[in-house]
Amino acid sequence: MKLTLAIAAAFATVALAGPAIAGPGEDLAAKEKCNKCHTDKDTKKGPAWKTIATKYQGKADAADKLFKELKNGGKVGDEEDHKKVVASDADIKALVQVVLTSK
Ligand code: HEC
Repeated sequence: MKLTLAIAAAFATVALAGPAIAGPGEDLAAKEKCNKCHTDKDTKKGPAWKTIATKYQGKADAADKLFKELKNGGKVGDEEDHKKVVASDADIKALVQVVLTSK
């Protein structure tokens, strides 16, 4: 049931984002099921991308920090065991940009 909901949410997100703006970052987010815990605007288990983007606004090292957190997994904020992303550095960086440019 939970899985069905997650899949439905994933499809809804993809439908809303539309194919025109989907890139490697969006593809990776879908593949890694980030939307199980994050959406672009609403807080689920984890903060919305928008909330994270606001938190790191104007911080020059934000992209670097988030890239390392996602690549290494483990402690992210208060989340002790955050999902680790296994993908190329370029795709993880694209994903970080998706998060940081959300509004
Ligand atoms: C099992 C649930 C879960 C999944 C799946 C998940 N996250 Fe998270 N994520 C969290 C939680 C909870 C936090 C909040 C930690 C905090 O702020 O203390 C978080 C925080 C974050 C942050 C903010 C880190 C910071 O320093 O503020 C980013 C960025 C992030 N997640 C990205 C992702 C990406 C990208 C994916 C998919 C690859 C993903 N998450 C998958 C639960 C999840």
